[in-house]
Amino acid sequence: MRLLNDPLNPFMFGKVAHGQGFTNRSRDMTNLIRDFRNGIHTILISPRRWGKSSLIQKITEQIADQYPNYKICQIDLFNIKDEDDFYELYSQEIIKSTSTKFEEWKTTAKEYLAAFMPVFSYSVDPNTDLKLSLNLKDGKNNFIDILNLPEKLAIKNNFKIIVCIDEFQNIGGFENPLLFQKRLRAQWQHHKNVTYCLYGSKRHLMMELFEKRSFPFYRFGQSYYLEKIEAQEWESFIIQNFERFNKKIAPEFCTQITDLMECNSYYVQQLSYLIWEITKNEVSKEIVNMALERFFEQNRILYQLELELLTAPQTNFLKALCSGIDKNFTSQEVISKYKLGSSANVIRAINGLLKKDMIDKMGKTITFVDPGFRLWLKRIYKI
Ligand SMILES: Nc1ncnc2c1ncn2[C@@H]1O[C@H](COP(=O)(O)OP(=O)(O)O)[C@@H](O)[C@H]1O
Ligand SMILES: [Mg+2]
Repeated sequence: MRLLNDPLNPFMFGKVAHGQGFTNRSRDMTNLIRDFRNGIHTILISPRRWGKSSLIQKITEQIADQYPNYKICQIDLFNIKDEDDFYELYSQEIIKSTSTKFEEWKTTAKEYLAAFMPVFSYSVDPNTDLKLSLNLKDGKNNFIDILNLPEKLAIKNNFKIIVCIDEFQNIGGFENPLLFQKRLRAQWQHHKNVTYCLYGSKRHLMMELFEKRSFPFYRFGQSYYLEKIEAQEWESFIIQNFERFNKKIAPEFCTQITDLMECNSYYVQQLSYLIWEITKNEVSKEIVNMALERFFEQNRILYQLELELLTAPQTNFLKALCSGIDKNFTSQEVISKYKLGSSANVIRAINGLLKKDMIDKMGKTITFVDPGFRLWLKRIYKI
């Protein structure tokens, strides 16, 4: 059991990185804040767990601090299943972002969304506060009023709004996604006081939404590819966080962490967390191995489940990927060495794994989304 005075582990994963737990990204912050203020809509793309949500949160704080004339609205579509859900959440969060006072939310909702009979109420979930409900049945054709809400509010109050929408690719699962996207784009493209930052983790879905000519959001804004935080940056971050608690870690172990976890933010933090927990004074080779064992223990059940859900060609494909091959999977040599059958099989396996969000494809290069899963597969298959 942790005593009250025990120092808390400085590494964090699984929630938005903030405060001293947030590192680097200063160039991304400068670029994005400048672009948002210049009204450039941005599509922020990276595989999951590289740091999009953390970055946007950090940017939100900085803008609130430095540019009071800008309001930031953050919307997460994680739980949003259809268009109606979207309109409610969108209106709710836009209204909330424009004022801190509940009374003003009510007034704004009444003034701008009267046709939908807006009601704010406490939701059953104690973690989320007030929820806005709209009666959309009769007013469905008035979705235009909802989509233009931020622009109207910005003009009326003489401020600008930056609307950040997380897990945007979820709209692909709505009943008629193309029609819905057309509706959004048709209104949003006229907004002069609102900047949109749309982001999401399924890179292939996000790219499809924004980079395919036939899609309504084609070239809606700039695509901004978030990169990994570099090994060197991680090294100083890790060393500092050990030193803050009078623990020592040699640079070679930092390199080991970033190599093993391929500089993936979440997993670098997770392994560092485990190493920090075990270390009393100074990190050693044994401690790193012990931490890795704990990592596998914690993830084994999940990884086994993931493995069980794969088809034989998908598993064989991952074995090829583990062995260091990251391109030319349809070559005869790779196909026969890894028993992949045919190039059509390989393509099917790749598409299946992309859909499951287990691999990521950038150009022709394919990588694991979860570097820990790669390590685990290498271990069980002795690759
Ligand atoms: N700038 C950062 N500095 C330190 N750790 C970070 C940073 N960005 C992300 N992380 C780590 O990665 C994890 C996943 O980040 P998150 O922002 O949720 O990624 P995404 O939104 O891309 O899925 C966080 O919980 C944190 O451990
Ligand atoms: Mg996120």
